Amino acid sequence: MKPFVYVTKPIPEEVEELLAEHCTYEVWTSRERIPRQVLLEKIKEADGLLTSGTKIDRELLYSAPKLKIVSNFSVGYDNFDLEAMKEKSVIGTHTPYVLDDTVADLAFGLILSSARRIAELDRYVRDGKWTKSEDEESLFGSDVHHQTLGIIGMGRIGEQVAKRAALGFDMNVLYYSRSRKPEAEKKTGAVYAEFNELLERSDFIVMITPLTKETFHLIGERELKQMKHSAIFINISRGKTVDEKALIKALTEGWIKGAGLDVFEKEPIEKDNPLLSLPNVTIVPHIGSSTSVTHTNMLKCAAKNLIDGLQGKQPRDVVKELKQEA
Ligand code: 8YV
Repeated sequence: MKPFVYVTKPIPEEVEELLAEHCTYEVWTSRERIPRQVLLEKIKEADGLLTSGTKIDRELLYSAPKLKIVSNFSVGYDNFDLEAMKEKSVIGTHTPYVLDDTVADLAFGLILSSARRIAELDRYVRDGKWTKSEDEESLFGSDVHHQTLGIIGMGRIGEQVAKRAALGFDMNVLYYSRSRKPEAEKKTGAVYAEFNELLERSDFIVMITPLTKETFHLIGERELKQMKHSAIFINISRGKTVDEKALIKALTEGWIKGAGLDVFEKEPIEKDNPLLSLPNVTIVPHIGSSTSVTHTNMLKCAAKNLIDGLQGKQPRDVVKELKQEA
């Protein structure tokens, strides 16, 4: 009998076809997030789960007697309770590599938008405010080229951001990571800096670190106060790596100049979030990997990991904390 897979979001036909060759499956086809109770019901019969962002916690794992593998179609896996997955010997996979360039492109989109005030001035033009000369000082932004970029979290995406910065924009690139990355240094010319030094020296700071216990609120009041008043802060990691209240204070009181944000402590963002009324912030709705090609590639990669796991093979992309157990 073919294994049964539950899929928590709509997926393209070609990914369904891939699954159909090896599994029986059911898809949550609504664009609304799957209600927890529905998932807890469906998971009772599932051998595999294809998902992204769904909390994989003890309650879910203990409702799933047959579950062998959870395949995330995202590179981040902060939705996994890794200890509980180890305990239940459930494999966990994610989708690295396929989204690196796409997410790095968005980082640059946010850098450029924040520095040159593209989103803000788009609103200005649409609102009919462009009535004076275009070299008006009030429209000036900051240069990106030849500035110093600080990357926090130098993984594969960080490397792509560093490459764009160094080769495309002649930027000086600093990075901070738990360990030094000699390969990335060689390829991109990025220079390792201690965390505090990076905060103090960077004109742009890009946050790309995964969300873990250690990186929760890594950026708070103290760190924001260490940044230059002219600094622009970009977050493409997870909202919870930053203390959002502190960030709002920093942006309101001018501790830093601006921000470009793809991720938030609560997603979708709440309607009364003060960030929404700040002109010096570019806000996008968690679209780091959102191009149709990359989305499909992530799903194909996740489906492949899932099928391998169900067939008793070692999937390529088991998350590092669960590797020995896989
Ligand atoms: C995903 C992401 O698109 O891969 C990640 O970790 O944050 C995004 O690229 C998102 O999780 C929704 O699938």
